[in-house]
Amino acid sequence: MDLKSKIREIENFPKEGISFKDITTLLKDRNAFSYAVNKIVDDLKDKEIDYVVGPEARGFLMGAAVAYALGVGFIPVRKPGKLPSKTTRLDYELEYGTDSLEIHSDAISQGDKIAIVDDLLATGGTVRAVAELIESLGGEIAAMEFLIELEDLNGRDKLDGYHINSLVNY
Ligand code: PRP
Repeated sequence: MDLKSKIREIENFPKEGISFKDITTLLKDRNAFSYAVNKIVDDLKDKEIDYVVGPEARGFLMGAAVAYALGVGFIPVRKPGKLPSKTTRLDYELEYGTDSLEIHSDAISQGDKIAIVDDLLATGGTVRAVAELIESLGGEIAAMEFLIELEDLNGRDKLDGYHINSLVNY
């Protein structure tokens, strides 16, 4: 299956010069969606994953589907102020400014084996922050899985030592 052909590219969105990778067209296509989810599941099958963690918002779409297909639970990472119980928060640097993410502090126990699933690996800032949150609660990152990787942004350079898999590369 040619997954790239199912992803719509929108030029100059959200800003001039950016070619946005729109996954809504892939998600709408039942064959492409299930193919993509199953490819990620195949990569995770032998890793004894306890939970999938996915970051808001597009990470929920892929992450929850992968968790369901793999037969494990799903844990959300959210932007601040959204999760109702006690949270652990991480502030991290962006190119311009900072951003923050939160996870429920009781969502992960010591030694849990975690797969992080997101739609996109760009600079790697998001997944690195998610990994730091998980590890601060005692979880072990067994894999990082992405539908899309933007290779020019060198996200992998920030993620030394982790198992990284992506399905479509630009
Ligand atoms: C996008 C994408 C990843 C992240 C990747 O999320 O879904 O989570 O950016 O970029 P990075 O590797 O440079 O960190 P975004 O922050 O746009 O949020 P959204 O999913 O809510 O649209």
